[in-house]
Amino acid sequence: MIVGSISENLSQEQRVSVTPDIIKKYKSLGFEIHLSKNYGLHLGFTDQLYENEGAKIFSSDDVISNSDAILQLNILSDENLKKLKKNQNLIGVLNPYINEKKLKEIALKDINCFSLELLPRITRAQSMDILSSQANLAGYKAVVDSFSYFQKAIPMMMTAAGTISAAKVLVVGAGVAGLQAIATAKRMGAIVFATDVRLASKEQVESLGGKFLVVEGAENLETKGGYAKEASDDFKNKQEGLIKETLKKIDIVICTALIPGKKAPLILKKDMIDELPIGSVIYDLAASQGGNSELTKVDEIVDYNGVKIMGEANILNKLPISASNLYSKNIFNFINNLYDKDNKVFKINLEDEIIKKTMVK
Ligand code: NAI
Repeated sequence: MIVGSISENLSQEQRVSVTPDIIKKYKSLGFEIHLSKNYGLHLGFTDQLYENEGAKIFSSDDVISNSDAILQLNILSDENLKKLKKNQNLIGVLNPYINEKKLKEIALKDINCFSLELLPRITRAQSMDILSSQANLAGYKAVVDSFSYFQKAIPMMMTAAGTISAAKVLVVGAGVAGLQAIATAKRMGAIVFATDVRLASKEQVESLGGKFLVVEGAENLETKGGYAKEASDDFKNKQEGLIKETLKKIDIVICTALIPGKKAPLILKKDMIDELPIGSVIYDLAASQGGNSELTKVDEIVDYNGVKIMGEANILNKLPISASNLYSKNIFNFINNLYDKDNKVFKINLEDEIIKKTMVK
């Protein structure tokens, strides 16, 4: 069996799906690894380094043509999709909501497509969970980047010249990214507040030393799968009042609120941002899904009356080595589950929830 991967479009994606240190794991399953030329050079992973680990380097066309499974971050270009053949497997973050038409066309050619953001959040899938591994890093990096733009110190400091008070951080959305943002901000000495529509997150926020802002009288907006439901108008009004009041004392806001398959909820309206002290920073991790803040512009730092609002299309491009290391392990674990070791084939067992839920048809 051959697993292959070709270079991503580097202007948009710095991560890679195969890092040098994962190759021995593929080899232990008896796989060959084929990569395109200069595959990881932008991360310092030279072809020589990959070859030393046992990978083989070819042209992109050869990698696509010879691989049983092609492992990517993003869907292949239209030109490369056309080169795929019957029974090949394409695995990545294929974004089926946006790429529905393309994916239907290739499924008709009996090419198996697996989109890893559709993985069920079950215990057995945790080691493959790319949403968690990447969101965790994003939450960390959003804090580090917003702190670097904030023009005051973060922890409380008592000096002979006087006392500097600790910065106050509000984290909106306490899922995977939000909880890591809380932990990171706490480690750096900030006072942290957080809010979420899922009541289960209150205990998690508090266990990290954060203060949970409860929307009084609100129902728990959690689905059976652990995700958020869209909030009612009543909830939104109450949440708006609570956040608006809190913002008066906040220095940094980290926005992470998402609803799967929908535009990100708009939480920080312009009149609410007016409440923030001058010099405050908002980092909007939901920027590329429409933003939690009304004033977010993707890949720009907006200065609104002295408040900086930042949000990037892909924050993971700012720590691509860590992100690639985790992603390549996630995707290896997915392959390991897909591979039938007795018969030495990829087995599309639709009774396996992991395979059934990730397969795009
Ligand atoms: P996500 O990225 O879809 O959303 C981020 C957060 O935003 C969520 O906590 C959500 O409740 C919150 N949110 C949505 N609308 C909001 C609003 N209007 N105001 C405030 N907050 C809002 O979610 P993520 O981070 O992927 O995690 C979702 C759940 O899945 C969590 O319960 C998490 O613990 C669980 N999970 C379970 C795993 C497992 O294997 N069992 C693995 C990873 C996560």
